[in-house]
Amino acid sequence: MPALAGSPDRAPRVREMFDQIAPRYDLANRVLSLGLDQWWRRQAIAALKDCAQGDVLDLCAGTLDLTAMLVAGGTRQVHAVDFAEEMLNAGRAKLPPGAPVQIVSADARDLPLPAQSVDGIICGFGLRNVPELHRAIAECARVLRPGGRLVVLDFFVPQSALSRALQASYNRVLVPAIGGLVTGFRDAYSYLGSSIDAFMTRGEFEALCTSLGITARGREMLPPVASLVVGIRQPATVVTVQATGQDKP
Ligand SMILES: C[S@@+](CC[C@H](N)C(=O)[O-])C[C@H]1O[C@@H](n2cnc3c(N)ncnc32)[C@H](O)[C@@H]1O
Repeated sequence: MPALAGSPDRAPRVREMFDQIAPRYDLANRVLSLGLDQWWRRQAIAALKDCAQGDVLDLCAGTLDLTAMLVAGGTRQVHAVDFAEEMLNAGRAKLPPGAPVQIVSADARDLPLPAQSVDGIICGFGLRNVPELHRAIAECARVLRPGGRLVVLDFFVPQSALSRALQASYNRVLVPAIGGLVTGFRDAYSYLGSSIDAFMTRGEFEALCTSLGITARGREMLPPVASLVVGIRQPATVVTVQATGQDKP
């Protein structure tokens, strides 16, 4: 299973894995992060600033935690996109009746939204699972209005050797053990741990976004495990995406 993390054709297996863990995904999150994950999500929403009041895409929306927070904060329209339907279904009960949310099952690399149709995009812990990440970011650049914000909350490969060693032991030992215990799917949590090791540094991610028309800068959250990257869509430019066969820029 760990070899799946860097594999360019991992999407079908990743979708199946999230569908399996969906019923206990939220509980595993709370236990693994000691409850910090919801605090991180609130900070991510705050980083959308005024864009949070308009049309917002919750990319890799999963069990709709961010979508529910956006709705509670008065967002005009949320488009919650994820390719794992069981994850989306597990989150539906978090939304009040009549909430302005369009729930769509789709791949992040091929968004079913018109060009320049959203004011903001938020993505919590999703992008490191997406193969051909350049395609997903190019899609974000396409659907964002100029001046719109992309806010990404994720675990990037740490820059310092010490943090890398600490994070690797957490990912390789604690995440599979605790995630496996809570959900019954240890393999899925071995993958999730190794997907962090196989991702990119925050600097590499910022450079990828900037090269595709979204000027991005990030910072570490507290404690310095997760990071938040905020990007601003630059006025329209023609972006050519070339398949490199690799995820890294
Ligand atoms: C770790 S969960 C994060 C869910 C949610 N955003 C949160 O904050 O808890 C990652 C989600 O990304 C979704 N995902 C992974 N790859 C995807 C892709 N290529 N297209 C759409 N969704 C994807 C998975 O189905 C899963 O629901």
